[in-house]
Amino acid sequence: MESFTVRRAKTSDVKSIRNLVRPLAEDRVLLEKEAVAYYENLQEFFVAEDAEGNVIGCGGLHVMWEDIAEVRTLASDAAWRGHGVGHRLLAKLLNEARELGVSRVFCLTFEVDFFLRNGFTVMAEQSAVDPEVYSELLRSTDEGVAEFLDLARVKPNTLGNTRMITHL
Ligand SMILES: CC(C)(COP(=O)(O)OP(=O)(O)OC[C@H]1O[C@@H](n2cnc3c(N)ncnc32)[C@H](O)[C@@H]1OP(=O)(O)O)[C@@H](O)C(=O)NCCC(=O)NCCS
Repeated sequence: MESFTVRRAKTSDVKSIRNLVRPLAEDRVLLEKEAVAYYENLQEFFVAEDAEGNVIGCGGLHVMWEDIAEVRTLASDAAWRGHGVGHRLLAKLLNEARELGVSRVFCLTFEVDFFLRNGFTVMAEQSAVDPEVYSELLRSTDEGVAEFLDLARVKPNTLGNTRMITHL
């Protein structure tokens, strides 16, 4: 397999990011969002590109609170899976979290083994968000945050994905 690089996303990557996300959203693995949401949140995103400049992976870091962020929309092209694209993107996002001063990073995922191998652990119900922060987070209009909070309350978890966390 050829080499790839990871860099910050540009506005011109949004179409490629959406193409990566669409089939995963159809399978309900990732949350589908409007194009405008990708442009508005562009600074959260990194992409991986192959030697020809094709986008082969993406991932975002969404800050939720002073010490909390979420890894979201982490995806690699099916043809590139198992070549370290996800690992390199995730490492970049966690580094970004450190630089921003975040100490806890969440994810909601079906890819439990992948995240375990990348330093995450499965969260005990709600334990990482205290009730005060939780009630503040309820004010968020962000769909991903809403999904995250929903899963904390709804038992059993209706989507069947797992809430995971890493401490930086
Ligand atoms: C999760 C996902 C991003 C992983 O992407 P990936 O590019 O295949 O990730 P990697 O190649 O780094 O790791 C996958 C496996 O390849 C192996 N691997 C092979 N070559 C590797 C290399 N050079 N470096 C690192 N790992 C390598 C790893 O051991 C790893 O095994 P694991 O998944 O059991 O930990 C990808 O499967 C995906 O897009 N899933 C759907 C979307 C999703 O669920 N995202 C998470 C929620 S936001």
